[in-house]
Amino acid sequence: MTSLTVSDEQVSAAKAAKIIQPAWVRALHWTNAVAMVVMIMSGWQIYNASPLFDFRFSHMITLGGWLGGALLWHFAAMWLLMVNGLIYLALGFATGRFRKKLLPITPSGVISDTKAALTFKLAHDDLSKYNNVQKLLYAGIIIVGVVIVLSGLSIWKPVQLQWLTALFGGYDIARYVHFICMSLIVAFLVVHVALASDARA
Ligand code: HEM
Repeated sequence: MTSLTVSDEQVSAAKAAKIIQPAWVRALHWTNAVAMVVMIMSGWQIYNASPLFDFRFSHMITLGGWLGGALLWHFAAMWLLMVNGLIYLALGFATGRFRKKLLPITPSGVISDTKAALTFKLAHDDLSKYNNVQKLLYAGIIIVGVVIVLSGLSIWKPVQLQWLTALFGGYDIARYVHFICMSLIVAFLVVHVALASDARA
């Protein structure tokens, strides 16, 4: 006999199918998003006080009002970013999520997925599975996240952590590394937000 009613199991299966990421990933992701936005906008204000390049960021998109205010924001959000990031890394390794979601990444897989994406043939039927390009970008941005924290620590405490500053080739190079990592994160964010909005549409 066929039934037109929907069982509780079917409802929960449909709900489970819609949830792409587990709750802890979503909580850490959105906490990271808030911390990152504060770090980027306050970082731009810090940069404006002594620009590395021949331009300044508009005050419309900076946080803190002046160097001192921006540094306060930067160091406050730093704790949120670091604690959240450490929990994410610990859980990512402990639960095997990094291994399952981000590995393996093969050069041939990256090339074929890039070709498929450029010809609009990339499959999107299961959003919980990453293609090779996504795996590469997500693994890459995690590494950039680690480098920006380490370079940030090395320019924050160049005396106490002089071995770390030396590892970057000195204070001035660490500053450039910090800035380049910020630029990579912002570029990643633009693509990430555009693709995530597109996938949900
Ligand atoms: C633990 C994490 C971090 C620490 C300890 C840290 C620390 C610092 C310090 C001390 C400065 C001032 C450098 C100077 O005086 O010239 C700075 C600048 C800056 N930070 Fe961070 N930072 C961290 C994370 C981040 C993140 C996640 C971003 C953005 C994604 C960011 C973006 C910037 C930018 C754009 C500047 C200005 C670059 C410059 O002109 O030197 N920082 N950071």
